Amino acid sequence: MPVTVHPFAIGFGAEIRGLELSDPVFDGDSFEIWRKAWETHRVLVLHDQFFTDRQHIAFSEWFGPLEEFPDPKDWAADDLPNILRVSNVDRRTDTIKDVDEPGHKSFTLGTSDWHTDSSYLKVPCKGSLLYSREVPASGGDTMFANMEAAYAALPDKRKADIAHLEVVHDFHWTRRRFGLPPRSPEVQAKTPAVTHPLVWTLPTGAKALLIGSHACTIVGMEEGVARKLLDELTEWATQPQFTYRHSWRVGDLVMWDNRCTMHRAMPYELANVRRVLQRTTVVGDGPVA
Ligand code: OGA
Ligand code: MN
Repeated sequence: MPVTVHPFAIGFGAEIRGLELSDPVFDGDSFEIWRKAWETHRVLVLHDQFFTDRQHIAFSEWFGPLEEFPDPKDWAADDLPNILRVSNVDRRTDTIKDVDEPGHKSFTLGTSDWHTDSSYLKVPCKGSLLYSREVPASGGDTMFANMEAAYAALPDKRKADIAHLEVVHDFHWTRRRFGLPPRSPEVQAKTPAVTHPLVWTLPTGAKALLIGSHACTIVGMEEGVARKLLDELTEWATQPQFTYRHSWRVGDLVMWDNRCTMHRAMPYELANVRRVLQRTTVVGDGPVA
C-alpha cells in the first residue's frame, strides 16, 4: 500500500496511511515521507499500529536521541527508561492508581493543563510520540494547539510588543500552583528555572509562541502583568480555530512537534476507567533565534 498523507481541515495535523511501523522493511524512504509530513503538519496520527516497546523506541530513534525519564516506576519496563507510561494504571500491580497519590496527581494535573513538554528544561524536547494500548470508551481525548498559526494571527502591534520577551519556565512553580509539596532539594536542583524566548524561530524559519503551564513569569516584568499576558496568549492560542482534538483508538500513534504546539489531556473517569498510553520523547536542539 502506498503511504499517503491526509491533512486535517483545521489547517494543521494530518493522518498518515499505509505505514506499518513494525514492518522490518521500514526504511529511510518511509522515514523521509514521515519526517516531511511532520515538518509540514506538526501533529501526525497513524492508526492501527501494533508494535512492541522496542519497536516504539526504534521508530522514535529515527528522529534522534531520546530523553530518559527520571522515575523507574513510570517506565514501560525496568530496563526501558526511554518509554514513559502515561497512564492511571500502576505497572507493577496492574491496578488503577490512587487519584490523590502526590506523584500521580502531579502527573494528571500537569498533563491536563495546556503545556509544552519539558519546557522547563534548558533545551525542551523536539517532539513526542504517544502510543495507545488501552483507552477509555469516553473521555481522555488529547487536544493540540497550533502555536505557529496562533502567533501568525496575532495583531502586528502585539507581535511587536512581545518580540523580545524572555519567559521563565519553572517546574517547581508548576507544582506549587497545583498545591503539591516541593520535591527533595536534590531533585529540585536538577531542574532549576530556565528562560526561553516567548517567540521561537523554528528550523523552517517560522515563528511560534512558546508558553504552556510551566511558563511562570516574564523577565523584567511585574509578576501580575506577566501573568495576565501569559494567560491572554494561552487563551488566544487555544481558540477552536487553532486546535485539534484527538479521540484515541487502541493502536494509535500520535507524534507532535513540541516546538510549535501545546497539548493537554481531557478529563476521563480517572478512578474507574483504565487509560494506558506510552510516550517516547526526542531530545531537542534548542531555539534557532
Ligand atoms: C504527554 C501528555 C496528554 C494525554 O504524554 O506528554 O501530555 O492526553 N499527554 O495523556
Ligand atoms: Mn505532555
